[in-house]
Formats: sequence, structure tokens, C-alpha cells
Amino acid sequence: MSVVGARPNFMKIAPFCRALAKHPEATHILVHTGQHYDVRMSDSFFVDLGIPEPDVHLNIGSGSHAEQVGRTMIEFEKVVRAEKPDWIVVVGDVNATCACSIVAKKEHVKLAHIEAGLRSGDMDMPEEINRLVTDRLADLLLTPDRISNENLRAEGVPESRIAFVGNIMIDTLEAQRDKAAARNVTELVERELLESRALPALPDNGFAVMTMHRPSNVDHIDILKPVVDFLTDEVASDMPLLWPIHPRARKQLEEFGLWNKVRERIILLNPLGYHDMLRLNMGAKLMLTDSGGLQEECCVLGTPCLTLRWNTERPVTLREHGGASMLVGNDVGKIRAAYREVLGSPRLPQRPELWDGHTAERIVDVLLARA
Ligand code: UD1
Repeated sequence: MSVVGARPNFMKIAPFCRALAKHPEATHILVHTGQHYDVRMSDSFFVDLGIPEPDVHLNIGSGSHAEQVGRTMIEFEKVVRAEKPDWIVVVGDVNATCACSIVAKKEHVKLAHIEAGLRSGDMDMPEEINRLVTDRLADLLLTPDRISNENLRAEGVPESRIAFVGNIMIDTLEAQRDKAAARNVTELVERELLESRALPALPDNGFAVMTMHRPSNVDHIDILKPVVDFLTDEVASDMPLLWPIHPRARKQLEEFGLWNKVRERIILLNPLGYHDMLRLNMGAKLMLTDSGGLQEECCVLGTPCLTLRWNTERPVTLREHGGASMLVGNDVGKIRAAYREVLGSPRLPQRPELWDGHTAERIVDVLLARA
């Protein structure tokens, strides 16, 4: 039984479903907790990435962390008791991951975690708590890079539980790269505009892309306003700036009275499907983001990436490890200095070890060997 809940889970489960389907000896039940539920945050990824229709949908929806985790545990426990799986496979670090991991172990079901061992060291991040809980409970920790192996060893995880398999997100990137490359940037931007407007020319290497949705960036006006001012007054006057906007970021901008300035200066888009986002990343001169997955995709595509965070659980994507990302936090002086520095940087694609598009097959092999 595998579990997905929120947008960043979907690109990780797609290759796993495909690889497992090649083994008729294994029965697979896919559970969607429903943490994300909008068509653009959920259903579109199932269609675009060929993920099978979930066998079970828990319809949990939004709420506080305790509400989401609590409701997910209550509903998931019923499913586990009814289906009695041999293994439960969770991915990533969202609330669904943590909630279903706790249920798995309390029901004495073996637990595997895809994307184990990532650590930001920042306990203010809800995802860090989810990672620590999940990895402490998991019987099989499937890691994306060697730094994650080291993190787990330092926490005393026995070697027998760790399997270094590579980054499953890159399986999806490689499988979908050609389809994304065939898209026309102007066409997709026109189609996904949040509000109709005249568009500037959007040649490859002539526009910037940003995403920002983390509570640490968007929940406090003292932090959000100076960053928004820098983006609207400086970046957006140097080149067209595209922002596919997450529902929570929009809500916060409206609440803080920043929405009008943003919609005038930044080209706002709906939350994008997988291929559209990949195409924008392929053509962007620069990415500004607080997303973990985008740091990884920028690394493989070589897109210079200013990571709007003070720490990262994905250090392998940083420049000091050969990647494309620079940590710039949310201090405008630091963001501006890094922005000027990377503007002249060439695209430098980088492929960390085992980010080769075949991680899902390795995961299924490890899992079946332990079934
Ligand atoms: C969650 C993950 C985060 C991930 C992000 C990607 C946790 C703790 N966080 O954060 O790691 O980077 O997903 O999107 O699990 N909403 C909608 N429609 C939806 C889903 C959400 O409008 O389909 C709105 C609701 O107002 C909701 C808010 O977005 O309250 C936040 O959603 P939630 O799932 O709680 O957290 P994310 O910020 O999306």
C-alpha cells in the first residue's frame, strides 16, 4: 500500500506505480489522503503523469496541522485494518507522510520511506518534524543521496535499514522531459494567466520564474513585504517575472494589502501542471523559490536557483556541492547580491550520483527482496 497526500508527493509516486505494475506478483493499493484536493493541486498530476486512480480516497482536506494529521490517522487506520498490507510505502515529508507512518507502525505493518534521510536541522519547519518522525519509524529508509545516508547513520539508524537508491523525482523529470520541451512558453503562459493581460516577449533565457509558499516566507508581513518589494521593483523591471501562485501565498498577499502591487508587476499564473512548470524551468534565466523539489530540478537542468530559505534539507543541490542553488534566506540585501552574481552565470546541469531516472526500479527491487 502506498500513500500520497499533497502536490510534491505525486511526481514521486508516479514512477513507483509504474515500476511496481511490472511485477504482477505484487498487489498495490494506492491511497490518496486528500490533503491537496483542487484540480490544479492534485487531479491534473494524476492525468499528466499517468498515475492510476487512487483505490482509496480519504478526503481529509485543509486544516491546522493537528487537524490534518489527526483526521488522516483516524481514516487511514480503518483502511489499514481492512486491507492488512505487508508494506506501507510513504514518500516525502508532508503531513500525510507523517500521519500514515505512525498508523503503519501502530498497526504492526512494515514501513518504507522514499526520500529518507533529508535534514534541514530546522525544527521550525513542519516538514522537518514529519521527516524525523517518519524516519525514526521506518523499517526501510530509501535515500536520494549519500549525505542522507550520513544523516541517518549519525542518528544511529542501523545500516541494514538504509538503501541508497537515488532521487525518484528525477525519474519523473527524465520520463517527461521531451513532452515538456515541446511546449511553447508564450502559449502556456497565455493559457494559465490568472488575469488577462498583455504579455511581453518570453524568449528562453529572457524571463525569471519564482514560487514562494512556505509559512516562514508568506505568513509574516515584516518578512513578506521587503521580499515582494525587491521582486516587483527590481527583478520584474529587469525581465518578465512569472509566478505560478500557491493558494496560501495568494491568501496572505491579499490579507497584507500586497496583492495589487504584485498583480500589476508580476505575471501571475495559476498553479501549473507538471509539464508547464518543467518547461518554464528549462527556459528560465533564473529561478527564485522556497520549494524543495524545484531546487532538485534546477540542479539537473542547471537553472541558476536562488533558494529563499536559510537552510536546506537538500544540500547536494547547493553550489558548494556542484549544484545550481544558493541559499539566500529572506534578507533582501543577501537576495540582491546573489541575484546580481547569478545573472551572468551560465546554465550548469549537474547530476548527483544515482539521479539517473531509474530510482523507482531500484526501490521496487529492494522492496520485493524484503517482502
Ligand atoms: C504542503 C506541505 C509542504 C509542500 C506544499 C506544496 C505540509 C506540512 N506541507 O504545504 O511541504 O511544500 O504542500 O504545496 O504537509 N489549499 C487549497 N487547495 C488545495 C490545497 C490547499 O486552496 O488543494 C490551501 C488551503 O487554504 C490550505 C492551504 O492551501 O489551508 C495550505 O495547504 P496545506 O496542505 O495545509 O499546506 P501547504 O502550504 O500546501
